[in-house]
Formats: sequence, C-alpha cells, structure tokens
Amino acid sequence: MIQPGDLVLFYHNERMAYVIAVPEKGKFSTHRGEIDYTEVLGKNYGDTVKTHLGVDFHLLKPTWSDLTMRVRRTTTIIYPKDAGYLLLRTVIFPGARVIEVGTGSGAFTILLANFVQPTGKVYSYESRSDFSENAQHNLRRVGLDTYVEFICRDVEKEGFMHDQVDAVFLDVPEPWAMVGHAHTALRGGYPLVSISPTVEQIQKTRSVLELEGFTRIEVVEILERELLVRLGRTRPKERMVSHTAYLVSAHKINRDSLTTDEHR
Ligand SMILES: C[S@@+](CC[C@H](N)C(=O)[O-])C[C@H]1O[C@@H](n2cnc3c(N)ncnc32)[C@H](O)[C@@H]1O
Repeated sequence: MIQPGDLVLFYHNERMAYVIAVPEKGKFSTHRGEIDYTEVLGKNYGDTVKTHLGVDFHLLKPTWSDLTMRVRRTTTIIYPKDAGYLLLRTVIFPGARVIEVGTGSGAFTILLANFVQPTGKVYSYESRSDFSENAQHNLRRVGLDTYVEFICRDVEKEGFMHDQVDAVFLDVPEPWAMVGHAHTALRGGYPLVSISPTVEQIQKTRSVLELEGFTRIEVVEILERELLVRLGRTRPKERMVSHTAYLVSAHKINRDSLTTDEHR
C-alpha cells in the first residue's frame, strides 16, 4: 500500500506523467483537474484514481529512468540510453566504492548510489557548491543520499581524496585533464568510463588515456529509435534524439609491471 513519502508516478499519458513523493494531505494540480493525496494513500501501485474532473491517473512505480530524467536540473544530465551502457562497462556492485566527477544535477549519482548500496559508497566530486547542493536535494528525494559522499572541489587542480576505487566515472567538459588523477585513484585492472558530446573531446581523452597507462580503450555511440507499433502500420517514429554523447571506456594497467617502456 502507498504510504506517506512513497514515490509514485501519477500517469495519464507520457505528456502527463509526474513523479511525486506523496505527502500526508493536500492536492496535486494537473491540467486535467486535481488529485486529492488522501485518495492516493492506502491505494496499491497499479490502482487508478480520478481527478475532480473525472480524468483517470494510474498510480505506477517510477522506473530508474523516471527518477533520473525528472531530477531538478542545473546541468545537462546523462540520458538512460547512455547511463545503462556506462554502468555495464564497469564492475559496479553492492559494496563497491566508486568515484564520479562531476556531480552535476545528480541524475547519474542516483543510479550509482542504487548499485553500491547498502555497504558501498559513491564519492561524487563537483566544483560548484550550488550544483552539489541541488544534487544532494535530488538524492534525498529518492532516499539514496546516505550512500553518497559529496565533495566540493576542482578535481583538475586538486585531484581525488580517495584511492583503490572500483570505478571512475567522468562527465566533465575536460575529462583528459583528470585522467592522470583517475589512474592514481583506481585499482589496477579496473575500469574508467567517460562521456563527452564532441569528437574533439574524445580524441584528446583517448590519447591521454594511452599516455597515462590505460588499455582496452573503446569508444561507442548509442542511437535509440522508438517504434510506433500499430497493427499493420508499425514503423519508427519520425523524431528521435539524434545525438547525446560518445562513451569512452578503458582499464587501468599498473605501469610498474610493464616489461617495455610503453607506458612508464
Ligand atoms: C554535465 S555535468 C554532470 C551531469 C551529471 N553526470 C548528471 O547526470 O546529472 C558536468 C559537471 O561537471 C562539473 N565540473 C566541471 N569541471 C570540473 C572539475 N574540474 N572538477 C569538478 N567538477 C567539475 C561541472 O560544474 C558540472 O556540474
């Protein structure tokens, strides 16, 4: 049963879908009428309520995609199609200790926190304190803030405070400038992933990764196309998000174990 504070997706259609932490009383206003929270409390996920104008809203369990796409944004965020791939290019697990830069709006931090809980930690670095505070609000809202340590510092200038981490995630305009710090912080053999919107960024990142002692460097782009499924008339939608970013992944090699001068 839905209790006060539970997150619920009030769903009429894709354009009228709202994630709400249900309060004990009050009303939620939509373009199609108001929903009284007291009518939602005590219902089950999957039930339907009506607005005072008689319009149906289904009470759905929000997905990770709903929770990340609906954060309060101060920055661009990592989209679900890219986030899933980045996570699977690492060995993130419950109990893992991972580094992320920058925190931004905390959309990706939500996913990281969920993967490492209950015994792991996300060390989330951000140079702007106002962005970090907004991200903390977003993490508190979904109940995952206790699995994140928020650190406000410029990583390019000051590096990381943590080492022997299981993964490093970079989403910053100049990832190449912190690849050396990432090498120091990572466990040998473990992965770094980085996301950048332009070709120039991934070229620089790739060459610095090679110089700093990373191997298995791969870059991909993921295109997502939605289908309109109708009997006898199924085809792709005309519109799609044609570009978000390029995704880089690599593994740290221990320079001192190399037998050649390649990465020393
Ligand atoms: C695109 S946003 C990250 C969005 C985040 N991944 C999300 O999904 O919400 C990039 C962030 O990196 C931060 N940043 C840029 N350079 C940085 C640096 N040198 N050290 C720490 N944070 C930095 C920016 O302030 C910005 O908030």
